[in-house]
Amino acid sequence: MKQLLVFLMGVVLLASCSSKTPHARYDIIPLPAQLTEMEGEFRLKNGAPLYVSLQNKELKSIAELFAEQIHLASDIKLEIQDFPAEDIPKIGIIFQLENLPELGLEGYTLSVAEEKVLVQANAANGLFYAVQTLFQLLPPEIYSTKKESANWTIACVEITDTPRLPYRGMHLDVCRHIFSVEFIKKYIDLMAFHKLNRFHWHLTEDQGWRIEIKKYPLLQKVAAWRDGTWVGHYNDTIGYDNIRYGGYYTQEQIKEVIAYAASKYIEVIPEIEMPGHASAALAAYPQLGCIKDTVYKVVGTWGVFDDVFCTTDEVFTFLEDVLTEVIELFPSKYIHIGGDECPKVRWRKCPHCQTMLKKHKLKDEHELQSYFIQRIEKFVNAHGKKIIGWDEILEGGLAPNATVMSWRGEEGGIEAALQGHDVIMVPTSYLYFDYYQSDNKAEEPLAIGGFVPLDKVYSFDPVPVILPDDKQAHIIGVQANLWTEYIPNAAQAQYMVYPRASALSEIAWTANHRKNFTAFHNRLQSQFKRFDYLNVNYFKKNQ
Ligand code: ACM
Ligand code: ZN
Repeated sequence: MKQLLVFLMGVVLLASCSSKTPHARYDIIPLPAQLTEMEGEFRLKNGAPLYVSLQNKELKSIAELFAEQIHLASDIKLEIQDFPAEDIPKIGIIFQLENLPELGLEGYTLSVAEEKVLVQANAANGLFYAVQTLFQLLPPEIYSTKKESANWTIACVEITDTPRLPYRGMHLDVCRHIFSVEFIKKYIDLMAFHKLNRFHWHLTEDQGWRIEIKKYPLLQKVAAWRDGTWVGHYNDTIGYDNIRYGGYYTQEQIKEVIAYAASKYIEVIPEIEMPGHASAALAAYPQLGCIKDTVYKVVGTWGVFDDVFCTTDEVFTFLEDVLTEVIELFPSKYIHIGGDECPKVRWRKCPHCQTMLKKHKLKDEHELQSYFIQRIEKFVNAHGKKIIGWDEILEGGLAPNATVMSWRGEEGGIEAALQGHDVIMVPTSYLYFDYYQSDNKAEEPLAIGGFVPLDKVYSFDPVPVILPDDKQAHIIGVQANLWTEYIPNAAQAQYMVYPRASALSEIAWTANHRKNFTAFHNRLQSQFKRFDYLNVNYFKKNQ
């Protein structure tokens, strides 16, 4: 009798289930840590209550963001109401802070039943991510900027979610080509959509200095501009276009980007390159180079250049002044100080640099680079921040508190973790989104080279299995890089990034044992529809 009752209840539940295909009901990227599929749906209705504590401004604005997006894409207007003093309401949508210590700052639970949607998290970050998940449980039309008719329901589900890694980043080089603030805001929107939380803003280079530094006006007047840009691939003998190119972000614009990112729970990490990739700064202030009586140029082609910062006190004063303004502007815990691709030819011939070697009893120019980075690290640490550097900062000895960004493979990251340093994995062969994503290169826009298709990105496990258990926590995160030598505009930048960023989000967020490329690929079909509504120019060949 009892069995028959259970059977009949199952039939009733099944009958109330929607006719939507099962796979489209839960196409969430990145895949949540735990998801239990349920029968039935919660229907969004005009005037339905959305309860949230109105004293908490952050929560209130997350609720508003949710309601506004729904109202933008549909005729439905939710009614935001103060969270009642007594029990959790039985009907409606509820956003609530709750003590869920095992889920951390960014985790959340989401329970969708036919009458009630309950979201709980320790902090606003988690509630914000729950909203991203809710949007993905709605039809893709939710991302539209005009009213659509769609089946405005949320599939019933129980989700408990928390990210695998705390640092989930996207990088953008704005020096080889500069991108508008509007483009950067959209880049940030799409990061938030993927539950990514660190924006690494590469601001200085040989080809242009892009951050306003008030103490050094020639950075704006000279270092931000080049006379022309190389046409075609740098291996080809083509020549320059001779078109003046450049620009920079004012400190006001930078503040605007930082505040915008913060509203999406994204921290902006600035990169100020040293001692290499310094041609633009030297063009403005030639006394900072090893050859004092020469003219340096903001370069217009690509590669690694011999002219780097010298090691004089004047150079350190300049960099400390720059960092003082940078630290003032950026609230992030980290400042990226570059450290990659610094040729040593000038230092070998420079009387001052050779004197520095002897004075500080340094074995070679690698140790001089290490001295350079350690001296900068002391300054940055004294101002309450930590440095990140590319993996070359291992050469000649790692600065004591540095975090290493491992780009030339995983080896640098493994070495740094074994030495007890934090690491962010960004290896070229998996996470350089300036590399080709199709092997049919003739049909693709010109790129730097390489081949990093979607499944290759997806296959990356940021935590190397050879690392001993007690060192694994040093792998704090993973990031993809977008170098822009061959990416002159916004449309092409999006084309290179999406959907590879979707794969990145899943390797950063989702436990390795839950990953499955075929299942991800199925969910990606809904992601493409979302990208269409979001007006994203994504790569879709053979996907
Ligand atoms: C790098 O790609 N040079 C960090
Ligand atoms: Zn020198």
